[in-house]
Amino acid sequence: MQTLPASDYWSAATHRCERRAIFATEWQCLGPAAPVDAPGGYLAEELAGWPIVVVRDGSGALRAFHNVCRHRAGPLVDDGCGALRSFVCRYHGWAYGLDGALRSARDSGLSDAEVAGLDLLPICAEEWRGLLFVRLAPDGPPLVEWLGAFGDACEGHPMEAWQPAHRAEHQLACNWKTYGDNYLEGYHVPLVHPALTRTVDPSSYRVEAFDGWARHTVQTRAGATTSGTWLWHWPNLAVNLYEAGMSVERWVPTGPTSCRLVLDYWFADTSSEAMEGNRLAIEGSTTLCLEDQAICEAVQRNLEAGEYVWGLLSPRHEDSVGAFHDMVRTARGPSNPPEGVTPDE
Ligand code: FES
Ligand SMILES: [Fe+2]
Repeated sequence: MQTLPASDYWSAATHRCERRAIFATEWQCLGPAAPVDAPGGYLAEELAGWPIVVVRDGSGALRAFHNVCRHRAGPLVDDGCGALRSFVCRYHGWAYGLDGALRSARDSGLSDAEVAGLDLLPICAEEWRGLLFVRLAPDGPPLVEWLGAFGDACEGHPMEAWQPAHRAEHQLACNWKTYGDNYLEGYHVPLVHPALTRTVDPSSYRVEAFDGWARHTVQTRAGATTSGTWLWHWPNLAVNLYEAGMSVERWVPTGPTSCRLVLDYWFADTSSEAMEGNRLAIEGSTTLCLEDQAICEAVQRNLEAGEYVWGLLSPRHEDSVGAFHDMVRTARGPSNPPEGVTPDE
């Protein structure tokens, strides 16, 4: 099976198409739901170019909006999390309730009738097992249905009992699919991850692709601490489950040739006695990330260089990459940008 064409990994037209066809359409994980546990708690971040904010309103309902004022597009809150009683735009001070309703168009001279209906633009938000998700499109399957068998594969792991303990962010100089392709195969493990190769048997590494999700399996060598269940869900979410916790990983496009990798780590035991073990787990994960980052960024440079146009996937190791590429093609549909152009054209 052929890979996606190289231009899909740098073209601005492809990026624009995928923002709408994939990132506005699919549920997107925002990590731990803890910041919005209590009324007034909010969490804001930029998601594939869309600034969004999620908040728990006074009645306990989860709400989410574009973090964009209806006056002249000012930001309501800075990215991050905190608590508030209403949204007050940072530009001219228009105020909105936590339900998104416009409460005051401060000192504007506009009548109530003129500003009627200028409420915040809503998006969908749901919670699943301590994780927060949003979807920009109003129509689509509920979160549990969207998660499907991926959600079932997480059963048996006491995710609710684990504590979110640490977040790591990496800015990657590669397209989100470059990192996604890499996540979806273990073919590179013996060459890219020497420390991991000492604890697992790379010849046993398999990535099984299912409908919209995938599962990694590998035999660990005696005494290894890397044994776990590594699960991927279309388009950009990975949940890596271990005995004593999990990491939730997502790679979000920040442009045609860049993405932000966010890892949240949960642990069963966050006591001071467990701190050293938890620190070592994060350190091992960071080593893997940096190794993957280095190879993905080198691949990205080569994809942009202009000579390589497409490659062939290994039927032994890369079926899941092929399945991912099929999902990308299907999602983009007829708006798929033209293929085969090179950066200098
Ligand atoms: S842009 Fe928000 S009050 Fe002006
Ligand atoms: Fe890797």
